[in-house]
Amino acid sequence: MSTGTEDEAILIIGAGLAGVSAAESVRKAGFAGRVVLAGDEPDAPYDRPPLSKSVLCSAEALSNLELRDPAFYAENGIELKLASTAELIERDSRRVHFADRTSVPYKKLVLTTGSSLRILPILPPGMPNVFYLRRLSDALALREALPQTCRMMIVGAGVIGLEVAATARTLGIAVTVLEAAATPMARAMCPTMCDFILGKHADHGVHIRTNTTVVNVDRFGAGYRVTLSDGDSVDTDVIVVGIGVVPNIGLAAAAGLTVSANGIHVNEFGQTSDENVYAAGEVAFHYNHRAGQMDRQENWLHAAAHGEHVGRTLVAGGPGYNEISGYWSDQFDFSIQSFGMPKGDRDVVRGSVTNGSFTIFHLVGDVVKGVSSINAARDMRTGKALVRDSARIPESVLSDPSIDLGKWRQSAMTSPAV
Ligand code: FAD
Ligand code: NAI
Repeated sequence: MSTGTEDEAILIIGAGLAGVSAAESVRKAGFAGRVVLAGDEPDAPYDRPPLSKSVLCSAEALSNLELRDPAFYAENGIELKLASTAELIERDSRRVHFADRTSVPYKKLVLTTGSSLRILPILPPGMPNVFYLRRLSDALALREALPQTCRMMIVGAGVIGLEVAATARTLGIAVTVLEAAATPMARAMCPTMCDFILGKHADHGVHIRTNTTVVNVDRFGAGYRVTLSDGDSVDTDVIVVGIGVVPNIGLAAAAGLTVSANGIHVNEFGQTSDENVYAAGEVAFHYNHRAGQMDRQENWLHAAAHGEHVGRTLVAGGPGYNEISGYWSDQFDFSIQSFGMPKGDRDVVRGSVTNGSFTIFHLVGDVVKGVSSINAARDMRTGKALVRDSARIPESVLSDPSIDLGKWRQSAMTSPAV
């Protein structure tokens, strides 16, 4: 695309992290036309990770949530259209209609509509003392309930469930977590890491019940009596549900773009089945060059990188998307980091699981495809470089904490075996 005349517009729908990153990068790539960033939430674009962590327990966190300084949008000529739900894409006339009866024309359209929460039918949002967590308003509602809460039940031992469990426990609340699968966070972790997390939560008094879910809920006092799939019942004051997300594909589907349960299908440049419509971030089922396959990621790193990439390449061209993503999670006094594949054919531990500071390298064949760590920032930095390079390092070296991996790698760089 040319760098744009003033009456040409790039319209971005979804004012989350991917949307903001896309808006910023189209400007950085030199686009001179109109840039409109529209989102259905009333708040200026904000960061979601603190919502399941500091926002629940610290007043200070609320003043630090914005993704960009308020002046950023005006300084970069980005029109923010907040509290505006896009309802219809007219692809023939290249115009998007909003619920507030306004419409915006576009030369190029970028969909960064993210995900919505999966709902547990037996516990619909809006039930008293039942909480879901995606938006700032969700986090504020839960935060307000915490001082009156003695007992919390969490459905789902994914990232949201375990981060909320850690925060609630730190506030002295008795916490039970129900997980339908055999292990917590199984989607995002190897078995060693899952066991560590399970043990740490148990040490802090969180009661995680795996292979269990909710089969019935009755009002009991101001809270609930919950019947579990194993026949037990548990009384609780509040229930938090964190059972995953689904990509927001409705707008794209109604416009006839190619979508599936995996998200909006886009190529390596973020382009949908319509050459003038792009998608980025959590909603995009995208082609990743490095992985050599289609992928959808649900983490901060990817939303930022993919939004940036799609915005830049739609203006200035360039190579296809090939970033490696990863995530972090803070629970109690431990910080989980993961980069690349979260589990491999073999998972090689370096450091002491017992002491709570270790790194795990995830190998496919003899190639380091991913690295995860607990409180091990230094090895994590080196690990990321190994993943980026698809390094081949002997297991005996990876697992030996007395060997400095950075130095070892430097000295072995000349060897064709590495
Ligand atoms: P979203 O953030 O979902 O933004 C999409 C936006 O589009 C939303 O504002 C949505 O309301 C809007 N929208 C949707 N449809 C329309 C429409 N029709 N019209 C207008 N607007 C629309 N990741 C990590 O790596 N580490 C963490 O510690 C971490 N913590 C997290 C904690 C919480 C509580 C949550 C919810 C997520 C966390 N994540 C974390 C994940 C990370 O925040 C997300 O992957 C990232 O926010 C996705 O960005 P996105 O812009 O693609 O989508
Ligand atoms: P998730 O997919 O990580 O975990 C959901 C968990 O709920 C799974 O363990 C699943 O087995 C379980 N589950 C599903 N149905 C169930 C049922 N009926 N009963 C009991 N357990 C059930 O999703 P989660 O934790 O809800 O997170 C939602 C989104 O927020 C994700 O996109 C995630 O990436 C993002 N997020 C990321 C964080 C991070 O990276 N640190 C922190 C918080 C959220």
